Amino acid sequence: MLAGKHILLIIGGGIAAFKSLDLIRRLRERGAEVTPVLTRAGTEFVTPLSVSALAGNKVFQELFDLGDEAEMGHIQLSRIADLVVVAPATADLMAKMAQGHADDLASTLLLATDTPVMVAPAMNVRMWEHAATQRNLATLRADATSVVGPNDGDMACGEFGPGRMAEPMEIVGAIEAHFADGPLQGKRVLVTSGPTHEPIDPVRYIANRSSGAQGTAIARALASLGARVVFVTGPADIAPPDGVDVIRVQTAQQMLEAVQTALPVDAAVFAAAVADWRVEGAGDRKLKKSKDGLPSLNFAENPDILKTVARMETGRPLLVVGFAAETDDVLANATAKRTRKGCDWIVANDVSPETGIMGGHENAVTLITDDGPESWVRMGKDAVAVKLAERIAEALGTK
Ligand code: C5P
Repeated sequence: MLAGKHILLIIGGGIAAFKSLDLIRRLRERGAEVTPVLTRAGTEFVTPLSVSALAGNKVFQELFDLGDEAEMGHIQLSRIADLVVVAPATADLMAKMAQGHADDLASTLLLATDTPVMVAPAMNVRMWEHAATQRNLATLRADATSVVGPNDGDMACGEFGPGRMAEPMEIVGAIEAHFADGPLQGKRVLVTSGPTHEPIDPVRYIANRSSGAQGTAIARALASLGARVVFVTGPADIAPPDGVDVIRVQTAQQMLEAVQTALPVDAAVFAAAVADWRVEGAGDRKLKKSKDGLPSLNFAENPDILKTVARMETGRPLLVVGFAAETDDVLANATAKRTRKGCDWIVANDVSPETGIMGGHENAVTLITDDGPESWVRMGKDAVAVKLAERIAEALGTK
């Protein structure tokens, strides 16, 4: 429920603006007050009348509207809400935000506000993937802006890929998670999850059997305790939870870069099954069968993301949690790993095929901390996640 929460909703100029009308309805159904702001480009896609009728509030449009300035200055307008939501956040609006422009009402409000900001990007896939947009996104994340979506899918422009605005209910989920009351309220937590895919050539890759189930459950459990979760995921089988900021990657190197843009965080949980090696010189040409014999692959070592973060000299998260999936001497190997990596806790588990844990629904873990090992009974991955999230909340509460 969002009763008593006030959302300043900035609607940018993109075809996805029509979804923002539904978003307004969903927010109001849950008791939120919505003050809408429509950019000039936004009026090309939805009318001020429909926006204000659905919001049950005046729609603000122009910076130099004297009537509005007399009633409410733009500084005041930027501060009335508990959360500013930009949906759709176009490439142009994101660029303005990242650069600190203030040349219209929306960008001025975004620069003047002292309330948290959430963006729901929507744009053509090429625009989304462009280095400039990705740089702006990294800047916004570093400025503590939360990001919901975009999703993969068919786009109005006829292309397919990431760029579709998140659905209204996903944005509502993210907003509810933002306001979720709990012991991790105000804390920012990073979770890595899923496998990585290391290319051999443009069509083949090396992967592993991680489904992403445990990492996803941990991200969900942390968000439900009120944390702002940045979820860096490799190509996993299951969808990321609602209400977390998702960064999708393929390779270990991309995962490290994504983790570095997500810092600083209060706690970091490294549940991803990262490939230890990548194929050196994986090119953009498909390897062909040859009469001269089998191709040989040379491997290069991937960065150890957990170790890199756990050993940071400045800006290290207060709590760094690693996983140790082992098939032999689980406890001894995991204890040694904790020291070698420099993390605070290790969640150790036996992934021998007969346990059915890798890719399954249950997990039997031992948590290794400064106080030594603590074995938990075998339980569902969701229950492991809830228990771990509670322990993280306790630990951050005392730090
Ligand atoms: O070294 P190993 O893969 O056994 O360690 C497992 C732990 O280290 C997990 O927490 C995993 O997420 C993390 N890891 C990592 N980067 C790597 C390898 C593992 O973050 N390259």
